[in-house]
Formats: sequence, structure tokens, C-alpha cells
Amino acid sequence: NFAKRVFSGIKPSGGLQLGNYLGAIKRFVQTQDQGEFETTLYCIVDLHAITVWQDPADLREATYEVTAGYLAAGIDPEKSILFNQSRVPAHAELGWIFNCVARVGWMNRMTQFKEKAGSGAEKQSLGLYAYPSLMAADILLYHATHVPVGEDQKQHVELTRDIANKFNHDYKVDFFPETIPVIEGPAMRIMNLRDGTKKMSKSGESDMERINMLDDADAISKKFKKARSDMEALPETAAELDHRPEAKNLVNIYAGLADLSVDQVLAQYAGEGWGKFKPALADLAVDQLAPISTEMKRLMGDRAELDRYLARGAERAREIANPILQQTYDIVGL
Ligand code: ADP
Ligand code: NA
Repeated sequence: NFAKRVFSGIKPSGGLQLGNYLGAIKRFVQTQDQGEFETTLYCIVDLHAITVWQDPADLREATYEVTAGYLAAGIDPEKSILFNQSRVPAHAELGWIFNCVARVGWMNRMTQFKEKAGSGAEKQSLGLYAYPSLMAADILLYHATHVPVGEDQKQHVELTRDIANKFNHDYKVDFFPETIPVIEGPAMRIMNLRDGTKKMSKSGESDMERINMLDDADAISKKFKKARSDMEALPETAAELDHRPEAKNLVNIYAGLADLSVDQVLAQYAGEGWGKFKPALADLAVDQLAPISTEMKRLMGDRAELDRYLARGAERAREIANPILQQTYDIVGL
């Protein structure tokens, strides 16, 4: 009895990199264009970003960069609802209610907190600890039924279901849906170009380790040509890449960009050396990514235009969110 709705978000905690594109934004665009869902909501989750320290000017800049990245990659602000979280106060309001539904023990089991928080409770924000409960609010505020996520976020979507079930059970209602995590195919995990065992991230130490979505054609090409590989030729099957992390990552990136499986890429390149594969990968990446970075730069040069998109998106988001929050208040007795 729930319409099929998609919610997903990206934190504006630094610039966008290739992992955000292949692991998230590219799939969001495909989901939007499939037309299978009644509504697709794509959010810039700025309230999540501040669970760790963000310089205010950098936060604002990153919010524009993520907005421009979504738009340049093909999120259509008419087809999808594109907005930033803090402009829809109902997220924080439902988040508080869910803080009172979720149990401390559930938060203690979240593996991401253990990874991100580092050591020492004096250094961890309470917001970082409670962030899965706000994430549940982000999703359930729209009665979203499907959430495209990476493998690493699956536990958070399961927690969202636990919160929905406990709320429905405690208040004897059938109000929140059971959200489904959508993990398509082999979860796309893009690794660092210098060390294939580390996830590519926006806060990587050296710029040569990652492809930024704002990199121009020259930078993209240079980084792929200098990416670390190994001395062996490309094998015939994906399984033979299992103990070759750098090689595996480069083939994975090719597959992600070309919308092919790793085996399909290998069928084309088995037996070839890196002297042939890396330039081909560089060309493919430039072809696909340079137009996006050019459009991102154009958009980022017009803040007023980006502000208009975000304001309109927030307005559309509030039209769905506010009645659901109001009904929640009624159910709870507030
Ligand atoms: P984080 O970077 O902490 O995962 P973000 O909000 O910045 O969180 O990530 C936004 C989306 O980009 C998430 O869906 C995440 O899984 C995806 N993502 C980020 N880095 C990578 C990567 N290296 N490979 C695949 N997906 C990634
Ligand atoms: Na991040």
C-alpha cells in the first residue's frame, strides 16, 4: 500500500570523487531514468556532514559542489527532488522522535560508528553516534520504500527497518514502510589509484590517488596512466584478479564506466599488458567524466542558479515530508 519511492543522499564533507560517481550518483541517474518509481529523492545530507567538524565555508562550498555534481551527471530537477537536508527541518524533528524509538544497544552494534569514531569517547560527537537514527528519519519521512546503497550502508537500512517496525508495533499502527536496501550487482567499491586496498575517498592524502569529479581531461588522463598496476598481463577471469588489488580496481573502474561486467572487460583485454589497458581506460574516463566536470564548473560559477534549484527542491520535499511528520506527531500524542 506504499508507493515505490527512492531516497538517497551524499554528505557534503569535501569534494566529490570517482567512487561517489560510480558507487552512487551514476546509479541514482539510472534509477531516475528507469521510471519504475513514483518519486526519486536525492539529498545533500548536510546535517550528517556536521557529525564531524566542518569548516563553515568549506561546508557551504561542498554543498554547492555536490549539487552541481548531481545535476551535471544527469539528475533532472524536474524528474527528481534534489535538495539539502537542513532546508527541510522535519528531518531533524523526526530524527528526535526516532532517537526515542531506537535503543542504545542498536547503535552500539553499528560497525560504521566504530570505524569512523576513532578512539576516545571524549572526541566523538553524540550526533555521530546517533546518525543512523537521523538516517532512518531521512528515509521514512518520505515513506521511501527503496534505498540504493553500498554494501557498507546495508546495516543502516536494516536499522531503519527495525525503527519502523518498533514504531509501528509500539503505537499499534501500520504507518512506516519496511524499506528495502537496493544493492545492485556486485557492489561497486572504487579503491585508491596508488593503493588498491584502500577505498578511494575525498579526504585521501594525495591528489594523484583519486579522480575528483572536478578534474579536467588532462588530470584524468595523467592519473590513470600513472595509476599503480602490476607486472602481469590481464587475466581471463575475474577470479584471477582476487589477489591483485590494483589490477582488480582498474578493471572494475573500466567496467563501471562502460556498464560492462568485469568478465566482459576481460574478454576484450585478456593477455594484454597495462601499456595497452591504461591508455584505453584513460580515454574512456575522459570521454565520460570530462563533460561532467565541465558542466559542474559552469554550474558552480552560477550560485544563484544552484540556490534556485535547491530552494525549489526543498519546497517539493516539504510538501511530502510535512504531512508525514504531522501524522507522526498525532500518532505519538504530540
Ligand atoms: P562516505 O564517503 O563516508 O561513504 P558519502 O556520503 O560521501 O559517504 O558517500 C556518498 C555515496 O558514495 C555513498 O553511497 C557511498 O557508498 C558512495 N561512495 C563513496 N566512496 C566510494 C567508493 N570509493 N566506492 C564506491 N562508492 C563510494
Ligand atoms: Na564522506
